[in-house]
Amino acid sequence: MRIPSPEEIRALHEKYAPTAEAFTLVHTHCEIVWGIAEQLLTSPHLSHLDAELVRAGCLLHDIGVYRLYDDDGRLDHANYIQHGLLGQEILEREGFPESLCRFCSHHTGVGLTHHDIVSQNLPLPPADYLAVTAEERLVMYADKFHTKSRPSAYLSPDEYAAYVRRFGEEKVTAFEALRTEFGDPDLAGRVPGGCAPVLP
Ligand SMILES: [Fe+2]
Repeated sequence: MRIPSPEEIRALHEKYAPTAEAFTLVHTHCEIVWGIAEQLLTSPHLSHLDAELVRAGCLLHDIGVYRLYDDDGRLDHANYIQHGLLGQEILEREGFPESLCRFCSHHTGVGLTHHDIVSQNLPLPPADYLAVTAEERLVMYADKFHTKSRPSAYLSPDEYAAYVRRFGEEKVTAFEALRTEFGDPDLAGRVPGGCAPVLP
């Protein structure tokens, strides 16, 4: 499988971003998520992961967010949870293989289940959207430490655990399993607001 380069992925963001502001918000976030995943990948016990695939997954995972802006540049927060599936559709139309498309539709929270969608009446086709491969799990995990919500900010592992608790204890358990698998990122030196250098 040919994995797109960061430059190709940046061009794809530029193609779908409705405004320069949306591009900056989403693409910068994707770069930050890759910076976090790249740092975690330096751990020797993760050397078996495909780093190039993780990089592409991080840089592509939120491309569907662009589809949720209206003509006035406002984001549809009520349907934000659809951005994963919308991203998958974009990448499928671009001819990307399923293993790349899945990064979009399988990174939300710590894994969305059929039960989550039905019980919370979420605006998604009921199904399991769970990260399956180690690369998918790492992209999903690294995404939890930075938020695009204004103001964009880094979240510590404990802050994310406290946030996700509102969705049920089983979500905290799933997050703690990811922490055990991938370790805690070192976010020291990263400036709240996403302005820190992405790479150390
Ligand atoms: Fe994200």
